[in-house]
Amino acid sequence: MPIITFSSPLHKDKTIYAAAGSHKQTILELAKENHVPIDFGCQNGECGTCLVKVMAISLKERMGGPLTERERIVLKEIGKLTQAEIDKMEVDDLPSAWRLACQMVVRDEDILVEYPSR
Ligand code: FES
Repeated sequence: MPIITFSSPLHKDKTIYAAAGSHKQTILELAKENHVPIDFGCQNGECGTCLVKVMAISLKERMGGPLTERERIVLKEIGKLTQAEIDKMEVDDLPSAWRLACQMVVRDEDILVEYPSR
């Protein structure tokens, strides 16, 4: 059961245990369910409002899952990723720390989610 800690300089940290079946949920869905005030807009990977920084906090190897095509486009547009970084992520098969909360699906790893990130 992954442990997800939401952290913001504007709010008290909140740690939750993602329940079984949550591997289909996005970070934004989990945040909303647990009253974590991550800003959002389109909820469709297009506006970049839900930008968060995600770091693994367990000793297990980083999982995270690949970025969606929409994340790649938006993160590049808002200057959080360069094409070279995107190319390197594909070779290394590792996600970037920058993610869109409405696109990143929870995996079986303990993570720290920092917001707001702008
Ligand atoms: Fe618009 Fe996530 S809410 S990209």
